[in-house]
Amino acid sequence: MISPDNLLLVNFRHQRRVVLTLLLVGAAALSALASTQSTIAVVEYYRSASDQYFLTGRASEQIAVDALPGFRRTGMTFSPAAISAASGSGRDSVCRYRIEVAPSNASTHFYGLTDDCALIARSNLPDFFYEGIDFSVTKRLPDGSCPAEAPVSVYRALRGQSSTAMANHRYFVNRATYDSAVRRGWTPEGAVFCANASSDETLSAAAAAPTLRIGGALPALSQLKNQSAASNTFEATLTAAPVAISLIGADPTEFWGYNTSVPGPTIEVYEGDRVRIRFENRLTQASNVHWHGLPAPASEDGSPMDTVAAGSGRYYEFTLPVGSAGTYWYHPHVHGTTAEQVFRGLAGAFIVRPRSDAIPVAVREQDLFITDLKLASSGAIAPNTHMDKMNGREGQYLLVNGALRPTLDIRPGEMQRWKLFNATNARYIRFAIDGQRFTQVGTDGGLLVAPVTGLTELMLTPGQRAEITVIGGSAAGTTMALRSLAYDRGAMGMAAVASESVIGVIKVSADPPVQTATLPDALRNITPLLTTAAVPATIRRFVLSETGGMGMGTFLINGKSFDMARVDASVRIGAVERWDVENTSAMDHPFHVHGTQFQVISRLTGGRAIAEPFIAWRDTVNVPPGTVVSFLLRQDSLGKRMFHCHILEHEDQGMMGVVNVVQ
Ligand code: C2O
Ligand code: CU
Ligand code: CU
Repeated sequence: MISPDNLLLVNFRHQRRVVLTLLLVGAAALSALASTQSTIAVVEYYRSASDQYFLTGRASEQIAVDALPGFRRTGMTFSPAAISAASGSGRDSVCRYRIEVAPSNASTHFYGLTDDCALIARSNLPDFFYEGIDFSVTKRLPDGSCPAEAPVSVYRALRGQSSTAMANHRYFVNRATYDSAVRRGWTPEGAVFCANASSDETLSAAAAAPTLRIGGALPALSQLKNQSAASNTFEATLTAAPVAISLIGADPTEFWGYNTSVPGPTIEVYEGDRVRIRFENRLTQASNVHWHGLPAPASEDGSPMDTVAAGSGRYYEFTLPVGSAGTYWYHPHVHGTTAEQVFRGLAGAFIVRPRSDAIPVAVREQDLFITDLKLASSGAIAPNTHMDKMNGREGQYLLVNGALRPTLDIRPGEMQRWKLFNATNARYIRFAIDGQRFTQVGTDGGLLVAPVTGLTELMLTPGQRAEITVIGGSAAGTTMALRSLAYDRGAMGMAAVASESVIGVIKVSADPPVQTATLPDALRNITPLLTTAAVPATIRRFVLSETGGMGMGTFLINGKSFDMARVDASVRIGAVERWDVENTSAMDHPFHVHGTQFQVISRLTGGRAIAEPFIAWRDTVNVPPGTVVSFLLRQDSLGKRMFHCHILEHEDQGMMGVVNVVQ
């Protein structure tokens, strides 16, 4: 009975001035949100001298999604009296919405959940948070009438916390909700029962669910706690299992998450650390964990040859050598189901820190783990269509740390270090910041030799990571959009040219400017795998192609579809090889190799070879149509390794091969 048609979402932040941001998703279908016609209305609350919250702006005000970062706090003011006055005129006719709270001083709490004029207060927020808040909400009922402005205090004594401050809260509730809340031990202080009573399902459905955050501060990624007390040792458990997460719809959406977190918890270790991770598979299908980019031994690499049956588990153990500091990630890697497991939420960041970092420690770090969410109109995660399988899946929502268009605060003059992860199935992220240049300091496998300054954009294919530094250069109070610029990756049909999208906002704070940190000229040494003059003993060619068909065998490497019983290349341990990867298909393919990092040396396109401008460690490189990318690589441990296209739908359909590293 709950449909995610039209929902209202409030983020409370316990700050001085602007305390509440309220977003109304007015689109009839969530799935339309990202399309150009989709609109989103933004309404902001402010705290008045009388310590009350009023609505400024109209709920019916429609602002294009892309205009969100620059929205203005103008429009009609709705005081409680104004709400009455405005009843029936231009107010939103939506009667289903949910309200949630993410105070800056605590983890997310439910504040309320509404359905057809019902609002359930549910929270374990500290009392002070409520102090002085007089919050009333009214809206038009489905029959077109608006209830009289007669809010009352409803609940006191929230979950055992007696809170007199709650007496200042006024909610409309329906009978069923009221009854349900009373049954659950909540203490009503009085209630107004609206027509259109709804059941109390919503209360139970969302009880345990975390929420999708929209707008608001960039959420920090959750961290996987080290359970080991021993030095240079990291031990923890990752459990893959379904998890219900409330999106902007009322019914929670089933994701698959690691440790109930989407994205998965960040693993943070130091070079030289011994890592021992227990993996528990609580899905109903086989899974595993692949440590993308890390030099884990083949047996610990979580490759498609090594899967963990539903209901069982295993340990992954490896030691991270000195020199491996970098920005990695982890995800499942079961052939044929990798794409689905990742788009359902199984992916997390894996950061290896150096013992001493070339970037000054005072430079604040932010991790931006970018994922792609595609919902069906039911609010459930959509299965892949045939088009998704051909093109690679692209959803309606690019999320950063699980949040839609979050805000990153920066002080004027402040330098921040951002670690960017493209953990999407198929999105090419042409990262840019409005009116702001930035500096690249790292790639997949760690820091560059020297900062690359003055960038206006940076491409991240699926699977790639980068480190950049950003300076809060503009005037205090300005906001700048973080964008993924349009890029034509040769996909067919509707997704032909991915349109530009706003993925977040930088907000330059009103704090006094700070002295900008300076980056060292030299970040580290990277020894070339070969001197420029030397020709490697072995040069291999891999041709990426597509056939006209659909399904397994559509996407090929050297004319072959993946077969894990076959070895496509045998390489000697420790030998430097040159791999020339050519794309004869019509679509870009990001090429990834397991077990090592490589050094791109040139890109040949239209008969012209372009030497790589700087040396860098990468494990994934884009190969556009008609291009040959050449890189040097060396495998330092024995065993079978994968190489594949990191558009996960292509990989699942066979664009993958096996390299056997031999003595
Ligand atoms: Cu990110 Cu073979 O994987
Ligand atoms: Cu990998
Ligand atoms: Cu591909």
